[in-house]
Amino acid sequence: MAMRLTPDQQAMLDGAKGETLAKVMKTLVMYGEAFGAEEMIPVTAEKGHLVTSFGLSMMKPVYDLMDQLIEGGAVNGQKFSVDPRPLDPAVPVNLLQKLVFKFMYSKQSDYEAQLRQLGLVENDAFTCTCYLPQVGNEPKQGEILSWAESSAVVYANSVLGARCNRNSGILELFGSIAGCVPKFGLLTDEGRMASWVVEVKTSRRPEAQILGSAIGMKVMEDVPYIRGLDQWLGGQLDDAAKAYLKDMGAASASNGAVGLYHVEGITPEACQQGRALVRPDAKVYVIDDAELERVRAGYPCIWKDPNAKPKLCFVGCPHLSLEQLNQWTDDLCAALEQAGRKTVAVPTVFTAAPAVAKAFEQTPAAGRLKGTGVVLSSICPLMYMNNPLCGKMPVATSSNKLRTYSSARYYTDAEMLRIMVKGEC
Ligand code: F3S
Repeated sequence: MAMRLTPDQQAMLDGAKGETLAKVMKTLVMYGEAFGAEEMIPVTAEKGHLVTSFGLSMMKPVYDLMDQLIEGGAVNGQKFSVDPRPLDPAVPVNLLQKLVFKFMYSKQSDYEAQLRQLGLVENDAFTCTCYLPQVGNEPKQGEILSWAESSAVVYANSVLGARCNRNSGILELFGSIAGCVPKFGLLTDEGRMASWVVEVKTSRRPEAQILGSAIGMKVMEDVPYIRGLDQWLGGQLDDAAKAYLKDMGAASASNGAVGLYHVEGITPEACQQGRALVRPDAKVYVIDDAELERVRAGYPCIWKDPNAKPKLCFVGCPHLSLEQLNQWTDDLCAALEQAGRKTVAVPTVFTAAPAVAKAFEQTPAAGRLKGTGVVLSSICPLMYMNNPLCGKMPVATSSNKLRTYSSARYYTDAEMLRIMVKGEC
């Protein structure tokens, strides 16, 4: 079915704003038609967010496209933040790994120059947690977004109540440029209803990363309505609950394809509409301690030597919140003191948005963390692991997303602490 367009949208499609913008609009229309959208709706959030943050040497078509957009005047759309950078000299690498990085991301500075011309909000706006208050790209409930980063989309939809589909890279930029997106899926009331009820019946607070993984693998791209989790989140959407939901959501979005979840008594739409959000024919998935153990036991270990001692620890994928950075620092310092150590036994990297790291640097905890030898970086751990020489190392992580997309091995937060302090789990 052909989409209904407003006169302005039709004019853009017909070339009133130039050939380049006409192609941008045509792509969005084709995207919408493929998903049965009947109309375009305005992008109402103040800022966009792009997923493609890395200047991989082989992405020539992307750079050519960016040049065309810039030359065609497609620079008056939304300002945007971008996913984390792939490189940080502070993160440990050996000489060979460094050489490979140099080749892999040889286009990084050229690409960043293109991003600045297209509307990068500021030089350091590279993080997947753009919605954190220190970063300042925090959409409001009901606002329409054109984002693609899966962990940010699921957070914006679920925790903030904004509306965004799981778009692809580049298409999300086109939505920001044109100022409109096709209306389907999670942008509609119907698409935000839950077709699963997840009953959390655990004897203790579930590990966010495993709970999200279990939900993602069961419901895939459907919307779950989660019951019984509010008791483990203190019954309110405070900073600790938001950090928990950030990690749970990222795991559900990467281990499955969840773009929105509701948590009874916690997330905004669940608080406002309650069980009216659940479809009458919704299926039920019960998660207890045994189910979480079953899910965890199913994670393959693809290290060459499964008994190897970890050579590097990554914490913060998605990037850590300020509250999480403080908590990790307290927990690590206490664990080191108990073990009679001053510094970590395994090179360890905590990652956070540049603006969050800056805020953290102003606190006394920053000096304590530095004293442990931990590197605080704003790198994307996955981009690091994409270096084939890094992918061969036994890397430990508390991120289920990183486990899914790389050879890194997943450990719970408590296990990660033990590895950092003792060198093994
Ligand atoms: Fe963020 Fe990179 Fe992980 S974008 S969620 S740190 S894979």
